[in-house]
This record gives sequence, structure tokens and C-alpha cells, in this order.
Amino acid sequence: MLAEALAWLVTPASATARRMGLLAESIAIAARHRRCRAAWAPHLAASRRALLDSAHAARGRRIALVLGSGHLLDVPLAELAGLFEQVWLVDIVQPWPARLAAHRHANVRLIEADVTECLARPPVEPPVPTRFLDEPGIDWVASVNLLSQLAAPAQRWLRARRPELTEPGIARYGETLLANHLAWLGRFGAPVCLLADLEQTRLDTTGAVIERRDYRPLLAAWKIRSEWRWDLAPTGELTGGQSAFHRVAALSQ
Ligand SMILES: C[S@@+](CC[C@H](N)C(=O)[O-])C[C@H]1O[C@@H](n2cnc3c(N)ncnc32)[C@H](O)[C@@H]1O
Repeated sequence: MLAEALAWLVTPASATARRMGLLAESIAIAARHRRCRAAWAPHLAASRRALLDSAHAARGRRIALVLGSGHLLDVPLAELAGLFEQVWLVDIVQPWPARLAAHRHANVRLIEADVTECLARPPVEPPVPTRFLDEPGIDWVASVNLLSQLAAPAQRWLRARRPELTEPGIARYGETLLANHLAWLGRFGAPVCLLADLEQTRLDTTGAVIERRDYRPLLAAWKIRSEWRWDLAPTGELTGGQSAFHRVAALSQ
């Protein structure tokens, strides 16, 4: 708890990241990783392997654009920095481990940005992002375990500020945000490696499914290159003896 409070104080973050709960989430991810290190290891290794396989297959070697880089738990930064002239790490929160890691590589740039381009004040219709599309030299793009994280902050904001919206309306808003991220990725003139949840499952103490969310319909236009299980919250991590796991995939267009 103390480490998390300290991280809240010392991590530089925008007012939007703080207000929309993304700084808190970034700190919570690092804390959960510390508690679930062994359970997460296969997922992190599979993510890194999938990113490297995709990056090696890219023809150009100028800029690698990594979206959702976070704490770099699942990003093989040293290898990417060796492969590309530049690596741009994009996240709404750039935590200290990423800042220190970037400092070790002269060709790594940190970019603090909201990839939905609408969190500062969610508009009535979320826009399709455009940032980086006109940037010459981007030869490879990765969206790293980010997709399923994109909707919740805007949805929380809408519930609090737009009482006239119904729950189905808020759900649709979230689906549009995710679809817009995929549409944005599809507009880069470079190969894209998308690491994303195919499915999220929550189990009760007996192992019975109490909640399941299926992202496959949203990802229907993408080709699955590999997939694996991420034991996100093994037994003991959640209250009431519940546990949660995701099916994660590396996808390309
Ligand atoms: C589950 S984490 C992915 C793991 C991350 N690569 C790591 O190793 O810590 C999702 C990441 O997406 C970032 N993120 C969530 N919403 C974002 C947004 N709208 N714009 C930019 N980054 C966002 C979070 O800050 C977090 O670092």
C-alpha cells in the first residue's frame, strides 16, 4: 500500500490520466504483477515472443511505434531498440520503470498520449484517432494488451456526468471506442502486431464461470497468429475466492 501511495506521488502524469483513473490503474498493474509474478510469466513471455516475431518480419527498420507500453512488462525493449532506428513508446502514463529503461537507449522516445484522443472530455461520439498516421518512417506498429482497457475510463466518466445515458448506450460507446482503435491501427501503412484479449473469464470459488466477455466478434477481421492463457488473477488475488483468466492473442491484419 505504501509503495502504491508513493508511486501516486512521484509518477509524473497528466491531469486527465489522474482524473480518469489511469494513473491508479497503472500503479495497480505494477502491484498486481509483483503479487502474481509467477502466474504472469508465461503471458509476458508469449507477448514478448509474439512482438519480436512480428517485428523481425517487418521490412522497414526506421520507427517502431509501441502503443500501451506501460511498465514494459510485455515489451522486449532492448531487442526492439536493437532492431529499429527508433522506438517510440506511447502510453497515457509513463511510469518510472519505462522512463529509466528509455534512458538506457539513445534511440527510444517516450510519448505521453491518450490513444483514444478523447479522454480529456469524452465527446458524444468517440472519434477515430488520427495521431501518427502522417508520421513518415513508421515501419512497424504494436498495440500491446491495450484494447480491452480502452473503454472503462470513458464509461466511468459518462456514468458520472451524463445521467441521461442508458447502460446499453454506455456499452455501445465502449464498443465504438474499441472499434475505432482497430480502425486506426488499420490505417497505418505498416505491419501491425495487435496483442489483445480474445476472452475474459471470471470464476467463483468452485471454478464455475460467473462472468465471460468475448472479444472475438470485434476482432473477426484480424488473423490470429498465436494465442495463450493469461492467469491474470489466480486464486487468492480477488475478494471472495474468485479468480480470473484471459485468452490473449497476437493478431495481424
Ligand atoms: C494492461 S496494460 C498493458 C501492459 C503494459 N504493456 C505493461 O507492460 O505495463 C495497458 C496499458 O495501456 C495504457 N492505456 C490505457 N488506456 C490508454 C489510453 N487511452 N491511451 C494510452 N494508453 C492507455 C495503460 O496506461 C497501460 O499502461
